[in-house]
Amino acid sequence: MSCLEQILLLLMVTQINCVPIFQERCGYKSCTPIKSGYVNIHLLPHSHDDVGWVKTVDQFYHGTNYKSYRAAVAYIYDTVLTSVRRKKDRKFIYVETAFFWKWWMEQDEEDRNVLRKLVNDGQIEFIGGGWSMNDEAVTNYQSIIDQMAWGLRRLNETFGECGRPKLGWQIDPFGHSSEMASIFAGLGYDGVVLVRIDYEDKRLRLKNKQLEFVWRGSNNLGRPSDLFTSILPDHYYPPSNFCFDVFCSDEPLVDDTESPEYNIEKRGDEFIKHHIEPLLNSHQTSNVMIPMGRDFSYQDAEMWYRNLDKLIKHINNKQEFYGKKYHAFYSTPSCYTAAVQQESGGVLSSPLKTDDFLPYASDPHQYWTGFYTSRASLKRFERVGNNFLQVCKQLFTLTNLPRENEQKLNKLRDAMGIMQHHDAITGTEKEFVAADYSRILSIGMKNCDSVTEQALAKLVNIESENFQSCLLSNMSQCAITEKSNQFAVTVYNPLSRTVNKVVRLPVNEKLYSVIGPDGKAVNTQILPISEGVKNLPGRKSNTTLELVFVAENIPPLGYKSYYVQKYADGDIVTIPDQIKTHQEANGSNINFYIDSIAGIVNRINYSNIDLKVEQNFWYYKGATSGSRPTGAYLFRPDGEAQTIAKNAKFSVYTGNIVTEVHQKFSDYVSQVVRVYAHQNYIEFDWIIGPLERSTGKEVITRYSTNLETKSTFYTDSNGREAMKRVKNYRPTWKNDVSDAETSNYYPVTSKIVLKDEENNLQFAVLTDRAEGGSSLKNGEVELMLHRNCLRDDALGVEEALQEKEFGKPIVVRGSHYVVVGHVEPATQSEITATTIEHKLAEEKLLDSWVFVSATEAKSFDQYSKDRLLTFSGLKRSLPDNVHIMTLEPWTDSTFLLRLEHTFEKTDDPVLSQPASVDLKELFTTFKINSIRETTLGGNQWLEENRRLSFRSTDQDDGNQETVNSEAKTLLSDLVVLLQPMQIRTFVLYISTNK
Ligand SMILES: *[C@@H]1O[C@H](CO)[C@@H](O)[C@H](O)[C@H]1NC(C)=O
Ligand SMILES: *[C@@H]1O[C@H](CO)[C@@H](O)[C@H](O)[C@H]1NC(C)=O
Ligand SMILES: [Zn+2]
Repeated sequence: MSCLEQILLLLMVTQINCVPIFQERCGYKSCTPIKSGYVNIHLLPHSHDDVGWVKTVDQFYHGTNYKSYRAAVAYIYDTVLTSVRRKKDRKFIYVETAFFWKWWMEQDEEDRNVLRKLVNDGQIEFIGGGWSMNDEAVTNYQSIIDQMAWGLRRLNETFGECGRPKLGWQIDPFGHSSEMASIFAGLGYDGVVLVRIDYEDKRLRLKNKQLEFVWRGSNNLGRPSDLFTSILPDHYYPPSNFCFDVFCSDEPLVDDTESPEYNIEKRGDEFIKHHIEPLLNSHQTSNVMIPMGRDFSYQDAEMWYRNLDKLIKHINNKQEFYGKKYHAFYSTPSCYTAAVQQESGGVLSSPLKTDDFLPYASDPHQYWTGFYTSRASLKRFERVGNNFLQVCKQLFTLTNLPRENEQKLNKLRDAMGIMQHHDAITGTEKEFVAADYSRILSIGMKNCDSVTEQALAKLVNIESENFQSCLLSNMSQCAITEKSNQFAVTVYNPLSRTVNKVVRLPVNEKLYSVIGPDGKAVNTQILPISEGVKNLPGRKSNTTLELVFVAENIPPLGYKSYYVQKYADGDIVTIPDQIKTHQEANGSNINFYIDSIAGIVNRINYSNIDLKVEQNFWYYKGATSGSRPTGAYLFRPDGEAQTIAKNAKFSVYTGNIVTEVHQKFSDYVSQVVRVYAHQNYIEFDWIIGPLERSTGKEVITRYSTNLETKSTFYTDSNGREAMKRVKNYRPTWKNDVSDAETSNYYPVTSKIVLKDEENNLQFAVLTDRAEGGSSLKNGEVELMLHRNCLRDDALGVEEALQEKEFGKPIVVRGSHYVVVGHVEPATQSEITATTIEHKLAEEKLLDSWVFVSATEAKSFDQYSKDRLLTFSGLKRSLPDNVHIMTLEPWTDSTFLLRLEHTFEKTDDPVLSQPASVDLKELFTTFKINSIRETTLGGNQWLEENRRLSFRSTDQDDGNQETVNSEAKTLLSDLVVLLQPMQIRTFVLYISTNK
């Protein structure tokens, strides 16, 4: 029975038991109507609250460490609540759900009801709505979608429809990606507001009235990915002299005519003359949007509202200023968007935008391209976090763990949401804040450890088995494998198809037997741990060897367990001697060659392709002079890159699984290049550091090929679609090319690709984290790996980027995966380089997770008794172009499923076709009774989503059929159709098989 029904019943009975009902007037219904014939001034009270930056997340929330930065987000939520409820027309927007949630958890029911009412009345509006305001350059699409969905889920659970954001509010991220626009469209949003675009682009847009336009986020998805985009002309700060905050010292407004302090007449004129009039020629409608707030403002909200009330009253009383009529009112970005739509009829006279807003330059010579690499280790840790989060969610779901365990999963959801913040993964926070992010992420992962442990114990059917993730295996350290005579290795595959996983474990001895689930011995190889790894600071291990084996055919969403046993005694396996000549790996599809004198890779051979590929390391000396030196945000080199070493010392190790060349270039650069049997990529496993603190070095690697690439290269957009980049060129304006290197740097979140169309050759480098990259010379790929900056770049962090770990300058380790192949298939059966890259990228992004467990069992037979050694979560693999992106517990009786098509329209003759997935009888541990499609965030039923329609006057496909309309059919039989690059989200209603 609804509240309303209960109240009606009150006429007959005496008992009433329900929470107060509020009439809902949220959404566009709550917007102040605009006036025609007037300039409509939308005043936007807002506070930009970074989820960590120069203070930690908790310091910002509670206000501790106040002396270093006077910000306390808790006060903002407290005082805004008090102030907004005092007057009906006051409005405010909440943006960062991580902070909102902290505050909400502290409130009693009374305050919660006050807020519920304000939300239902549209006075307080959630916009953006993600856990944080995510960065767009160095983030991966999976983590963006996860962090949006996580915030939106909390809002939906708490407020229902009135808590549902309708707009993106990305006012601080340092440049903007196409994928993010596409994600906002997928979330069902009506638009996005941006601030930071290239200064020249902004100047032209101001001049040509193109601050507002339609942005096509995906050229594959077309019209459904179109998004209304509005760029704030100045910044997200209030107009100068109109900041009314504890931080600011601007004069308050006085409208008491009898007071000698009376100033409203003068201040009103000033406001219109200096801050509104100059904007009028750059807008397409009568609406202007004026942000009234800045970083951590509204700690005393009444200071703002008191003055804004007066300003609004004065403007509306006087109406006419300098011959024009004005109408001022409290508004929100979505009310502004609706006003523009209403007045323009949704047709904007600006060209459709089809590229992105990267890189971002704020002023001449100030390219924010340093942060693409800053804090390289933190960037990698975040990727590992995503890998484990997906594993954790999947295992939770497949075993349908009791929902009280979701608290633990939530810790990692929270942590990963925070990590996406534009001062977290970007590396633009202070050192101690970065350490705090690592702490938060570690705690999240530990909590998920206990989820995966329970889930696996359920699956293997042995309650007491203790599954551990060897998180320090990146420094070849793992207590169990080092110290035990026998142990089990369980390899879980989070991909929706069968994969092979190379397992590498630090061990003490040279002889181990590895027995697979079928009871048969598995091929193994022992390799020496490289000097670079052994010398990693903080490594607490004496092992000098790694045991390598291939876990073959791990089932989709499934695992295989291996039993590893040290031989008591026996032959000592000899490690192959150094081979100082070209070395060819056996049984590989791809080989590399090294120059026998210089010791560097100089050729790669794949199938019938023989390509010159020279790889070496260089460094840029960072510019330290001037007001904006190189730093955490900016990359400003002082001159061209310099050689670190012409030659590398090297040694070669071969075997039946892998061939490795261990190279040492200098005190701070070493590398292992390896190729595995039956694989089609080469791995470059580099170690950079420690960089001496006294020199500002920014270390890069270059792969020089003889491909003819016509100044063109491709980088990924948040790990998804390929963006075409041309040196010294921007698609929509002529840019300043005087900064040869930095203006050509782009974020490489997952890969950078060269194509030589004439010779049908392609060369790609895949990364294991975001890095800055470019192609400054034809045929050459450059990637920045690690940075040490001597000075702060004066953009707010107020600290030089000089990372330390274990009390020493940090050492960074990472991998590149190099693929060589054809642009177009050379034979009927051949797969293209792009197809190889897609599959490899998936396998590296969602790598099979290795759990080790101690076992007392003395033999394989004892160990395997009553234990399930192999498991598949799926009854069959999905097609190669489809992937289960998300499988997670949702409400008490439902799961959330996201399916994605991983190919673009022109990537592959076969795999770029639409794909269909039959969900019937797909999962082995639960049955799907029915499914219901939602928007990308999972917070709204797709059929209920209506977006404000916008289009460009230059758009000729206005009526083209959309992917969405077609998406709504075909569901009753549980068969889902996916177009290239499409992601579809479903709530699954299930019953479990047990
Ligand atoms: C490494 O070896 C040293 C000397 O033998 C020993 O004291 C130390 O405990 C060992 N460390 C580990 C982590 O095994
Ligand atoms: C939103 O939350 C409500 C409960 O507050 C729930 O009933 C509804 O199913 C949720 N919507 C979606 C699309 O999950
Ligand atoms: Zn910010």
